[in-house]
Amino acid sequence: MTRAAVVQGLGAMVPPGIVTNAMLAERLDTSDEWIRTRTGIAQRHMVEPGVATSDLAVVAGERALKAAGTDRVDLVVLATTTPDHPCPATAPSVAARLGLAGVASYDVSAVCTGFIYGLYAGAGAIAAGLADSALVIGAETYSSILNPEDRTTSVIFGDGAGAVVLRAGGADEPGALLGFDLGSDGSLADLIMIPAGGSRQRTPVEPADAYFTMNGKQVFRHAVERMEGAARSVLAKTGWRADDVDCFVGHQANIRILRTVALQLGLPEDRLAVNLDRVGNTSAASIPLALADAARDGVLKPGDRVVLTAFGGGVTWGATGLIWPDISVF
Ligand code: ACO
Repeated sequence: MTRAAVVQGLGAMVPPGIVTNAMLAERLDTSDEWIRTRTGIAQRHMVEPGVATSDLAVVAGERALKAAGTDRVDLVVLATTTPDHPCPATAPSVAARLGLAGVASYDVSAVCTGFIYGLYAGAGAIAAGLADSALVIGAETYSSILNPEDRTTSVIFGDGAGAVVLRAGGADEPGALLGFDLGSDGSLADLIMIPAGGSRQRTPVEPADAYFTMNGKQVFRHAVERMEGAARSVLAKTGWRADDVDCFVGHQANIRILRTVALQLGLPEDRLAVNLDRVGNTSAASIPLALADAARDGVLKPGDRVVLTAFGGGVTWGATGLIWPDISVF
């Protein structure tokens, strides 16, 4: 039997504070109607100032461990765009707070593709026999990097965290991650960027340089092309046709992106997992939050053929597939 990483438990959390479109329209030149029709988003969750990414990651991690019925893993991978500090990585702090001090832990920075990249890292370590289990977390506090004066980004992003526990198992078991397609194109790095605060531009020239910036139109085009391509590649690896996919869990960036990808793949729209109306774009947390909501809503059931795909800053993209296992979701 081929050794593979198998999903053993799923946990998710969003902070209690809700920011509706109407609340944003009070301070920005936008409207509930524009945001709903252009993005599909109705509300997003945001932390209170002082709450950090690790605080959300710890809760999601605890829930995933509980769902998996374990308190030990060999590896913790945290995907985030919004680490607690530029240095050091946030994963060791999260691991320690989960009672996992001593295990290998590191951050993955692939913006909205971060969770797929994190799964790749965890699954790769398990498949290679370097680890027998891994906790992969996607956690974000985008509220800490959004320019409050930029309506093009402020209406899209939200905060949250999700996590899965992976264990060593067989490739023929439900829950086994059945192949990946990952890619990047750094020639497009400026499409999604925080210009200042790194070694290239140490301090902001303009105040806006300290915040997250995005060329929405270009990102839309590349997101559709790359998410479709990565999904097609995973379909080829699994031997599934598009019509075999029971639940398509795309990065929750924009309902128009998800619908276009589904249309181009020839996938009926009712196979799409959608929770962006409730949580917005939560970047690296998007895929596990969408999985958790789909499982709770009954959209995702044990035995379903599932494709996960995302696109994000870097630019980066990726996809993987699995048969959904009969697991707990907390
Ligand atoms: N409210 C009202 N009007 C707005 C707003 C707003 N919040 N934002 C932009 N507009 C205006 C623009 O100024 C423009 O006005 P103009 O025609 O007078 O110039 C008009 O609306 C249309 O703007 P577009 O940018 O063409 O709007 P579009 O339909 O492309 O929607 C959006 C913008 C929602 C950002 C879209 O491009 C998108 O979703 N892009 C993809 C984002 C994404 O996928 N991100 C995921 C990856 S990001 C990551 O990795 C973190």
